[in-house]
Amino acid sequence: MKKYLVIGNPIEHSLSPKLHNYWFEKNNIDANYDRKKIDKSEIPGIISEIREDKLDGINVTVPFKSDVIPFLDTLSKESQITQSVNTIYKQDKKLIGHNTDIKGFELSLKEIQFNLENKTIFILGAGGVVPSIIYALEKIGTSKIIVSNRTKQKTENLKKYFSNVSVVDWGDQPEFDMIINATSLGLNKEDNIGLNFKNINKKKLFYDVIYNPRETNFLRTGKNLGCQVSNGKMMFIYQALEAFKLWHKVEPEINEELKKLLDL
Ligand code: ATR
Repeated sequence: MKKYLVIGNPIEHSLSPKLHNYWFEKNNIDANYDRKKIDKSEIPGIISEIREDKLDGINVTVPFKSDVIPFLDTLSKESQITQSVNTIYKQDKKLIGHNTDIKGFELSLKEIQFNLENKTIFILGAGGVVPSIIYALEKIGTSKIIVSNRTKQKTENLKKYFSNVSVVDWGDQPEFDMIINATSLGLNKEDNIGLNFKNINKKKLFYDVIYNPRETNFLRTGKNLGCQVSNGKMMFIYQALEAFKLWHKVEPEINEELKKLLDL
């Protein structure tokens, strides 16, 4: 039986085991997918389990997406540019790190059908997932990307890899067509971003990377303003789908049963 794992800290909230095990069953794949909360010091040990064929693949989540990089042999172009790895596998005796968050975000946007070409995107946050979002947006061809993070200094790292990105102070609110919450504000139901979205028209898209809870205060605000809203559920499903394709060479199905299974 093949074995897969998602590592992170915290990890209790991860729905990856539910999703991958569902697809194993549907596709008659003899495998098991588990989750493990780890400390940073455990990373080399866990990764060497793939080298020794004790594990067949690993998904990496917050906060280790860049910490795993030194222990891998090769990075995909996407992982290199974003310095972020969420999927690890072995090929020709080499451990490869890949980033399926980019494709996950991109595919989730296709489903939303909001035309992003030549639009201004305002991203809140500068943590682990933000480079993947910026990379995907630049590929789509948005005209302007503005980032705001509580700790402004962290946006300097982003600018090293994405020189076209502009930065505004935390609390400032520039003009935008799409706003993305990529902070962890919203994981607790009472969390508030602290922006007052007065005088904005209904043509905006509010996107929250968070999918649990399903509707953050941020998304509720967008909805109340009459704007289009989306949570991070489809991004989550699509990043998993891309990892599944890589590992098993099978395209699993996304259907209503699966979406319901993930409803919290
Ligand atoms: P990491 O920082 O390890 O990459 P993350 O979960 O990927 O972790 O990112 C958390 C994001 O949420 C960061 O942008 C963080 O801002 P800081 O860089 O200032 O820490 C943001 N965040 C978390 N709590 C916040 C809060 N109370 N107010 C504003 N931003 C917050």
